[in-house]
Amino acid sequence: MRVIIETDAETACISAARIICDQIHKKPNSVLGLATGGTPTRCYQELIRRFQNGEIDFSQTRSFNLDEYIGLPEEHPESYHAFMKAQLFDHVNIPAGNWHVPKGLTDDLTRECERYEAAITAEGGIDIQLLGLGRDGHIGFNEPGSSLASRTRVKHLTMQTIADNARFFGSEELVPRLAITMGVGTILDAGHCLMLATGAGKAEAVAAMIEGPVSASVPATALQFHRNVTVLLDQDAAKLLKHGDYYRMSENAQRIIDNSMGV
Ligand code: GLP
Repeated sequence: MRVIIETDAETACISAARIICDQIHKKPNSVLGLATGGTPTRCYQELIRRFQNGEIDFSQTRSFNLDEYIGLPEEHPESYHAFMKAQLFDHVNIPAGNWHVPKGLTDDLTRECERYEAAITAEGGIDIQLLGLGRDGHIGFNEPGSSLASRTRVKHLTMQTIADNARFFGSEELVPRLAITMGVGTILDAGHCLMLATGAGKAEAVAAMIEGPVSASVPATALQFHRNVTVLLDQDAAKLLKHGDYYRMSENAQRIIDNSMGV
C-alpha cells in the first residue's frame, strides 16, 4: 500500500482528484469506480473545478458507483443516484448513459446484482476505484462479516453505519436498513484502489485497515491483498498508525524519485 499522509483533509481530497485526473489523462476512456459519503465531496468539487478550467475531459469516461440504498426512489435527495448527480455528474461532461449506480428500487434485486456485475465486466473492468471507509471498517456497504470474495449483493447495514448516516436523513429511523453494494471481491478487481479517509473518527478503522490482521471483521483489510492501493489520509485519520513516521519518510523519498523522473 502507498500510504500518503497529507497535512489536512482539503489537501488529501485535492490529491485524490489529481490522481483521478492523471488516470483520465493516461486513458481518456477510463472506467471510474466512484464513492459517496461526506468524504469525497471535496474531491468531486476539485474534479468539477478542473473540468471548468478545461484541464480534464470526462466525455469518454464510464463510471460505476459502489452502492445504493434499497427502497429509495432515484429522485430521493439521499439516494446515491441523486447524490452523484448533484455532486458530480450534473457539472461535468460525462454522457448520461455512461454512468451507473445500482438500482435500489427494483422487483428483482438478485437480477440487478448480476446485471451490475455484468455491466462492469462489459465495460472492461474498473481502472480506478475511489473508496471511503466506514467507521466499522466497511468499504462500499460491505459490513463486518462480509466475505472477502463477495460480489455485488444485498447487505444489511450495521447500527453503527445507520447512526453515522443518520446525519444525512435527519434521523436514524429514516435511514434505509438495506443496501446493494459491490462486493469486496468486485472492489479488489479494480486496477487501482484509491482510499480516501479523513478525520479522527476514522483513525481506528484506518489503523486496522493498514496494520491490522486481514479479517472479514474489518472488510477494508482485504485491500492488503491488492497490488495497487493508494491510501490518502489527513493527520487526524493517521494518528493511530504505528508506522506513521515510516510512511511519511518513504512517501517523501518517493516524491523525490517522482520529481527526478518528471512524474
Ligand atoms: C457510507 C458509504 C461508503 C462510504 C462510507 C464513509 O455509508 N456506503 O461508501 O465510504 O460510508 O462515509 P463518510 O465519507 O460519510 O464518512
